[in-house]
Amino acid sequence: MITLGIESSCDETSAAILKDGKVLAALTHTQDEHALYGGVVPEVASRAHLEKIDGLVRRVLDDCCLSPNKIDLIAVTDSPGLAGALLVGVSFALGMHAAYGIPVTGVNHLEGHICSLFIDRQDDVVPPFLVLLASGGHTAVYKYLSSGNCELLGHTVDDAAGEAFDKVGKLLGFPYPAGRMIEAEAAKFAVGKSSSSPKNKITFPIARFTSPEKSLCFSFSGLKTAVKNFISENSIDYIKDNRPALCDAFQRTVVKSLAGNLEDAAKLTGINTVAAAGGVACNGYLRDELKKRFGADNVIVPPPHFCTDNGAMIAMAGYMMYNSNRTRFPSMDPGRGI
Ligand code: KG4
Ligand code: ZN
Repeated sequence: MITLGIESSCDETSAAILKDGKVLAALTHTQDEHALYGGVVPEVASRAHLEKIDGLVRRVLDDCCLSPNKIDLIAVTDSPGLAGALLVGVSFALGMHAAYGIPVTGVNHLEGHICSLFIDRQDDVVPPFLVLLASGGHTAVYKYLSSGNCELLGHTVDDAAGEAFDKVGKLLGFPYPAGRMIEAEAAKFAVGKSSSSPKNKITFPIARFTSPEKSLCFSFSGLKTAVKNFISENSIDYIKDNRPALCDAFQRTVVKSLAGNLEDAAKLTGINTVAAAGGVACNGYLRDELKKRFGADNVIVPPPHFCTDNGAMIAMAGYMMYNSNRTRFPSMDPGRGI
């Protein structure tokens, strides 16, 4: 079965063709114009999607020598996301549906991230497992049982983990999005490359919730404030010299929180296989920490290019929805959860 996946919910325009859950072609355009503004500007995003989407879809079809009438299903992100950005992908998918009579399904972006775990290896990834979904817009832990059967165990009550990386990055002078650069800067500290390592390792507190119903929830806004205070309490030169140590301390705290909640979820549910998806799952320190805590054989992570927003995960979700009779006509809802 040939599935075309289209993703345009935020600042990546992406299209992919999958055959029975395996990637034939995939292309992603990341809009770097937002770096100028320090964050995603919705109107700029919609216009950029509009410019790119047609060419991307044509190119993935060309890359696998297919004409549109060979597509069995179009899967398009219809929620959640920026309204104007979603509208571009959904309108394009509906246009192809009308022109060629191809069946179309709306896909929830968060379900797409979770389905990235199955791309190219559906037979090897066997539920049940716990999923940490950590991106720029969302951070949550789910218990995944099967397509459409996914239970939310905990979520962030304020900033998403990726958002925290981006906001702290901005405080430290990195362009948006800052996650990858903070990881690279922290790695300099780890190998002792920083110009003058502080005598005492910098530490930040981890937010924990005492109430049982929130025990698996996250909070990152206090951490961001702690970094902000640390910056304002020290000289510019000190912060410049110790930027790797600061990035390392921040990253360690975020990862401790993410991995710690997964560990608590494993204890509560008795499920010891864990997965990570979403842009923050690109982070090597997080991946290593999960492998340390759960054992490498019990950790599922997609390759980095399927962690950040991409059309292949949307195609995979559509394909899995089709196989479980869950396809639905796209209905835009910028705020819808799973
Ligand atoms: O999943 P994604 O592409 O978009 C959303 O759905 O939000 O995630 C983007 C987020 C950004 O906040 C970015 O800073 C973060 O993922 N990110 C990282 C890394 N690579 C991307 N965060 C930490 N470490 C990384 N290596
Ligand atoms: Zn995403």
